Amino acid sequence: MSIPKLMKAIVINAYGSPDAIEIKEVAAPTIKDNEVLVRVHAASLNAGDVFALRGSPWLIRLSVGLRRPKDYILGWDMAGRVEAVGSQVTRFKPGDEVFGSCSGSLAEYVHTAEDKLAPKPANLTFEQAAAVPTAAVSALMGLRDAGKLQPGQKVLINGASGGVGTFAVQIAAAFGAEVTGVCSTSNLEMVRSLGAEKVIDYTREDFTRSGETYDVIFDAVDKLSSSRGKKVLKRSGTYLNVGRDSGSGNDLGVEDLTFLKELIEAGMLRAVIDRRYPMEQIVEAHRYVEQGHKKGNVVITMDKLL
Ligand SMILES: NC(=O)c1ccc[n+]([C@@H]2O[C@H](COP(=O)([O-])OP(=O)(O)OC[C@H]3O[C@@H](n4cnc5c(N)ncnc54)[C@H](OP(=O)(O)O)[C@@H]3O)[C@@H](O)[C@H]2O)c1
Repeated sequence: MSIPKLMKAIVINAYGSPDAIEIKEVAAPTIKDNEVLVRVHAASLNAGDVFALRGSPWLIRLSVGLRRPKDYILGWDMAGRVEAVGSQVTRFKPGDEVFGSCSGSLAEYVHTAEDKLAPKPANLTFEQAAAVPTAAVSALMGLRDAGKLQPGQKVLINGASGGVGTFAVQIAAAFGAEVTGVCSTSNLEMVRSLGAEKVIDYTREDFTRSGETYDVIFDAVDKLSSSRGKKVLKRSGTYLNVGRDSGSGNDLGVEDLTFLKELIEAGMLRAVIDRRYPMEQIVEAHRYVEQGHKKGNVVITMDKLL
């Protein structure tokens, strides 16, 4: 299969406003022996992309560019078809449908190590699969690894309607926990439909004054201080914050992706897609994501680039 030397990609060359985002022709990636080249069909747009464009928190500049980004390609998650594989790759072959994580996923092609990919869940479209990797793995690492969530425990998910939160509600329910989801009025039904036994409208009720206590509190939207959260934590309970306890896209590996794929194919986990944008509308998409009110995930369809 012939791979072009150039590809189109969604890049930034300045920090700040979404107006800095452009679609540009850049060098197509080449692969190392242990890497896979994927032709991207869809990629999700997440908080990480907002941080990359703002250049804030400052640490992100270590990977995006100290003074300014230079043709930095946005995107962390994607779903697509394998185009080529390195000589040491054993699990994939050209034509396989995959999903996973890699820096620079808002492009025609991406390259990534094979352990950052898994076969796409059979019952998901490319768009749905592209929404899963980082957000769902963050929820999984928070609840399972940091929270050691057990069946029958009472868990409260703050920000249950967001990218991480919608996966957290479903993963906690799949682990057999009793889930309470905290969200705004218009999201109550959606969060209930994901498996929350109880929902609390934070615009009408302050759950930290309810007297109810929880084994695990997971702040999936980073809006709840630990001092407020701990007011409703059981004595032996665990308070989790998505920024501190959920790892990052870099921590994502094939075992977690495979675990999520199995949950998805068993009908226990789904991706909530709020909006889909064609890549030409990337600036509008970015403006929407940075407002911080999306319901689940926003996906960019890359097929127009092909
Ligand atoms: N998405 C990822 O892949 C990912 C991965 C790792 C870490 N993170 C981190 O996780 C955090 C959340 O990211 P996200 O992408 O999941 O966010 P998001 O999708 O933008 O979600 C925000 C959601 O939370 C709701 N919300 C806003 N203020 C709230 C409040 N005070 N209480 C409860 N709910 C509130 C919003 O709806 P309303 O405004 O209508 O309530 C919206 O549905 C960020 O700090 C991000 O850095 C994200």
